[in-house]
Amino acid sequence: MSKEPVTFDFKATPEKWDIAAHVLSLENSIIREILKISSRPGVISFAGGLPAPEMFPLQEMKRCASEVIDMYKSDSMQYSLSMGITPLRDAIAERETRQGCPTKTENILVTSGSQQGIELCARAFISPGDYIITEYPTYVGALQAFNFYQARYATVDMDENGMKVEQVESAIKKYRPKMIYTVSTFQNPTGITMSEERRHALVELAMKYNIPLIDDNPYGEIRFAGKPVPSMKAIGGDAVISLGTFSKIMAPGLRIAWINGPLFIMPIFERVKQCSDLHSNTFTQYMIYAFINSGKLDPHIERLIENYGQKRNLMLQEMDKHFPPELKWTRPEGGLFLWIEMPTGVSASKMLPQAIEQKVAYVYGKPFYPDGRGDNTLRLNFSCATLDTISEGIKRLGKVIKDNLR
Ligand SMILES: Cc1ncc(COP(=O)(O)O)c(C=O)c1O
Repeated sequence: MSKEPVTFDFKATPEKWDIAAHVLSLENSIIREILKISSRPGVISFAGGLPAPEMFPLQEMKRCASEVIDMYKSDSMQYSLSMGITPLRDAIAERETRQGCPTKTENILVTSGSQQGIELCARAFISPGDYIITEYPTYVGALQAFNFYQARYATVDMDENGMKVEQVESAIKKYRPKMIYTVSTFQNPTGITMSEERRHALVELAMKYNIPLIDDNPYGEIRFAGKPVPSMKAIGGDAVISLGTFSKIMAPGLRIAWINGPLFIMPIFERVKQCSDLHSNTFTQYMIYAFINSGKLDPHIERLIENYGQKRNLMLQEMDKHFPPELKWTRPEGGLFLWIEMPTGVSASKMLPQAIEQKVAYVYGKPFYPDGRGDNTLRLNFSCATLDTISEGIKRLGKVIKDNLR
């Protein structure tokens, strides 16, 4: 005789379950919240850090997906190695070597986005209360990851040549940081690139004080103007852990990226990655490998550079036309973003609802500062909008800004 199923009348509530205190103190990403609002119909959004959707190589991806299934059959759907599939690691090492950083397959760990790379670095190096040196402002997603590990920040100001490295040594002596985190090339949020001289100086400090230097580099290959600067890894070798990603040079939804680190630390990263997801998506790793192997990645990046360069030029041209002279902004030579400073006292966060009302969106600067300052700043993304919407959006934003300066 079958038994009646037992059902319990229990409703889980926050009062009944004790969520860990350090998790309760985490904040939702403000950018993700702004993205929700900015996706309302008719709003021209310069808010997200999104690559241009019209540039995703969809037809090629379709071909790669079917090639991967034909070639690797069930292996393409199976659990795979935590370090990543070997052909992709080989291909990444070969590209890194070609770009001036001699790299072996063993130096590469495939991650689920470079967001995971950032998190694995925090896991490997940070205990609660430890300090991290960061640029001021810095990438908000890194702050979110570091906050989870209860890091504290020793921030370093920036100018048009990147982090003011002359401030770093005294910060090291004062705070004994466990890690230096930089987005040295076409930084998110400012678009600024660190000068070659400062790169050398920063690497020297990292070596002198034995502090791992993390160079988060999603944008380095997207240069549309100016003279290339050697990457931090090319300068610093083993002193640098660099993070690369296919998000901006192919498509972020594939969620494949990599860490390029010194040999001794790779088994440690392998272990800390295993705690989180065992390994990255097997199928998209094979797809990306197929894309690289067919020789299509570099020409694709060339097309992206052309597309983003045009959009950035137009955005700057329209800003020159429509923005008041009291504003300062960066003129990035690559990447996806530019950064605006309004006069002190003008609040970019209070201005946002008015901008949304006028059907244009941006991300205000505060979340990029670990201490929540910088309310007179804002970030614009130029890769995701179209040429038509850039002109109209900048015109709308110029009007909102002028109204706020009066
Ligand atoms: C500086 C920086 N690091 C990491 C990421 C995360 O990239 P991924 O999609 O590879 O996780 C981003 C995304 O915008 C970024 O700007």
